[in-house]
Amino acid sequence: MKLSSYDILGSKEKSIAIIEETENPKEIGEKIMKEHKNIKSVLMKLSERKGVERKREYKFILGDPDTEVIHKESYCRFRLDPQKLYFSGREGTERLRIAEMVHPKETVLVMFSGVGPFSILIAKKQREVDKIPSIEINPEAVEYMKDNKKINKVQDKVIPILGDVKEKCQEWFGKCDRIVMPLPHDATSYLELAYKCLKPRGGIIHLYIIEKENEAEKAVEELMEDFQEKIKRKLTYKTRKVLPYSPRTYKYCVDIHISEGKLN
Ligand SMILES: C[S@@+](CC[C@H](N)C(=O)[O-])C[C@H]1O[C@@H](n2cnc3c(N)ncnc32)[C@H](O)[C@@H]1O
Repeated sequence: MKLSSYDILGSKEKSIAIIEETENPKEIGEKIMKEHKNIKSVLMKLSERKGVERKREYKFILGDPDTEVIHKESYCRFRLDPQKLYFSGREGTERLRIAEMVHPKETVLVMFSGVGPFSILIAKKQREVDKIPSIEINPEAVEYMKDNKKINKVQDKVIPILGDVKEKCQEWFGKCDRIVMPLPHDATSYLELAYKCLKPRGGIIHLYIIEKENEAEKAVEELMEDFQEKIKRKLTYKTRKVLPYSPRTYKYCVDIHISEGKLN
């Protein structure tokens, strides 16, 4: 039996394995659990991520039916159950990259914040950040985010907000220095709202997108031209490959710097 790749979420005390769809999941699950004593449950992916909440369907294969774990990543602990919400353990390096860019006194709006991995890591890495409003539409993810800010002792910085970004970001118009937009399949449709959340002097937007490798450069160029035309402000941007998404297609982050000056 060949073991294909699988994801592990959790800690050395309790983890779960998430395997790809296969015909002999029980056999594979048993092998994984035998090799890793901390893996207490095995789930099998049954679908792609879908719907507004970007959840996946799983089949429970074996072990403990309670699939809630505390996932450890870069000095942080995130309590979560992957069956109830979106979480990817593969994005830790990118979260750290963003957290390391944050300056003291910034207000950082995290849209689509899930259980709070960006928000909490930012609060941990930049102790002098002002505040981190974090908007998420999935109520179960928001409950976990509330729990996670306590577990990580960042209660005074992270502000969990339950609701749709389209409505909830309005109270942050003109108040933020930096916006994180980790909803790659649809974040571009929220770009103008994100711009409105920046302070009048401008700031930084981290926009996540999914593009074919050979089309990404042109797609981003067109997107930025269109955006600049709408907001009539000077901007510069840099595009980075984050992770493979599907064959020849990647998740990218576009770091957009919007400066004070208006375009003529
Ligand atoms: C790709 S996940 C990212 C979650 C989290 N930032 C992370 O890295 O684990 C996108 C999240 O956005 C949430 N979401 C989707 N549309 C939303 C909306 N209009 N308003 C607020 N949250 C939304 C989903 O429920 C999901 O948790």
